[in-house]
Amino acid sequence: MEVRLAKKEELDRVNELRKQVNDIHVAGKPEVFKPGFCRELQEYIYVIWEDPDQDIAVAVQDGVICGFAILHHVIRPENPFMKERDFLDIDEFCVDEAYRRQGVATALVEFAKEYAREKGLHRVELNMWEFNQGALAFYEAAGFTTYRRYMEMDV
Ligand SMILES: CC(C)(COP(=O)(O)OP(=O)(O)OC[C@H]1O[C@@H](n2cnc3c(N)ncnc32)[C@H](O)[C@@H]1OP(=O)(O)O)[C@@H](O)C(=O)NCCC(=O)NCCS
Repeated sequence: MEVRLAKKEELDRVNELRKQVNDIHVAGKPEVFKPGFCRELQEYIYVIWEDPDQDIAVAVQDGVICGFAILHHVIRPENPFMKERDFLDIDEFCVDEAYRRQGVATALVEFAKEYAREKGLHRVELNMWEFNQGALAFYEAAGFTTYRRYMEMDV
């Protein structure tokens, strides 16, 4: 398996994987996420493609794109509360259902770590929805730890 940056002609396939993530979010948090994968969401991959601060990594196995990650270099300026923060954010992440539990996501995270180091960054972040316990188990297995929480209650 190879992990590399995507080619523009591969973005339709990346969108098939983005739809899988969207469907998981709709099923897990239907009060938040809109069902379907509308044209605007589909076209957003080209906005990412054009953004100099973002890259799209893909995992390729036997010529098939089986996973992807959006790698986003984020710089948050200093403010009265916080120091400047400069890190790599993994904005979207998915391995095709048919290719899970074969180490694809692990290879994508290794690629992201190396990509960050090459940019002189020393921190990789991501955020996730709490219902997605499979993703949490993976992220923890990959070495991520929780440093902040969002909490809610119904009233
Ligand atoms: C989460 C996800 C990316 C993991 O991808 P993957 O390629 O299957 O992960 P790996 O094979 O590299 O897993 C490495 C280890 O992580 C842990 N792990 C991965 N998926 C797991 C799961 N669903 N439940 C429990 N542990 C899991 C295991 O320890 C695994 O090692 P093992 O297979 O030897 O037991 C994948 O399940 C996925 O794309 N899910 C749907 C999309 C999604 O939720 N994306 C994240 C949105 S924030």
